[in-house]
Amino acid sequence: MQPSPFLVERWLNTHEQVARYNLAETDAQPFTVQELLQIAHTSAQELLDKSISYNPTLGSDPLRELIASFYPNHSADNVLVTTGAMEADFLLANVLVNPGDTVIVQYPAYQALYSIAEARGANVKFWQLARDEGFKPNLNKLEQLIDANTKLVVLNIPHNPTGAVLNESDLRTILNWAEQKGFWVLCDEVYHDLAATDKIPPYACTLSPKAISVGSMSKAYGLSGLRLGWFVGPASLVEKAWQWKDYTTISISPISDYLAQLALSNKKQIIARNIAIANRNWGLLANWLKKWSRLFAYVPPEAGILVFPWLKQPGLSGTDFCQGAFDEEGVLLVPGEAFGQAGHFRLGFGADCETFSTGLAQLDRYCSRLE
Ligand SMILES: Cc1ncc(COP(=O)(O)O)c(C=O)c1O
Repeated sequence: MQPSPFLVERWLNTHEQVARYNLAETDAQPFTVQELLQIAHTSAQELLDKSISYNPTLGSDPLRELIASFYPNHSADNVLVTTGAMEADFLLANVLVNPGDTVIVQYPAYQALYSIAEARGANVKFWQLARDEGFKPNLNKLEQLIDANTKLVVLNIPHNPTGAVLNESDLRTILNWAEQKGFWVLCDEVYHDLAATDKIPPYACTLSPKAISVGSMSKAYGLSGLRLGWFVGPASLVEKAWQWKDYTTISISPISDYLAQLALSNKKQIIARNIAIANRNWGLLANWLKKWSRLFAYVPPEAGILVFPWLKQPGLSGTDFCQGAFDEEGVLLVPGEAFGQAGHFRLGFGADCETFSTGLAQLDRYCSRLE
């Protein structure tokens, strides 16, 4: 079956190249190659000497070892390097899901987390995060969705688009159910390292043999153009996903592999830079949302760089609001309708502080005309 059109990606692709103020992005402010080399105290010559060949399909050994070092009790054998977290999510859906299986997905969701399972013929059930519950994951609701055919539960911690976080105790409960009932838990953790909070649970794969963690260089590291992600899980799953990867992308670029090693070897410094930008922008944004509380309500994100406010004005759709902001002021946001949530919009606050504050000022002008 064909997967459904990927609404968020199509919206972004249509608008982001011409947007003057992109407040729709989900990644930290991107690094230049030069900045990255400087942080890693590496000469440009080293990069220039790299051969642009095929890379090993699983990712280079040093990169896999480096990734594994962040996941206690895991080794390179547990790591598959992929073309972005997107490919990891795609491969895992194909490896784990068969027609008729029940797949339960935290919802709203980044569409890759359920549309591929749907296309595989799964019976996808949505575990709704309700805004009147402050987007807090409600375990009772999840328990009611689990049935005898449940093969996979898909989590996203911290969550896109709401910024909600599933706490460690709830995650452990779900993983206990997984072990008892035999289903898998795919935990997309692409925003995990952007959490300057102790609310964030450990990487799921370190808590249970039934959990798989998906990570990426895109969001927390600000290196989305490397197109480099991974999953960490049982070696048997790495083996099965490898069989699919031979047919998808064969390998990532060796240049990306190399630059990712530089970034991961300097993780502390890179994440500290990105969290500082996000904190500064969030300070501006929280004030801005307060100022416009006549127009919007929102739940403050617990981690990550995304917030998912909703419009109080009856009859104004998220799409109309976002299209107006784009057409009139050149500010790009994402309509909640792209997540199946009418009347919401998603705003990302990882961008460079100057673009972010100017973008908010432009939105001010647009909002004043809406009142
Ligand atoms: C939850 C989630 N998973 C995966 C991705 C894809 O990330 P990558 O750039 O690593 O492919 C995104 C991108 O927005 C995302 O939000």
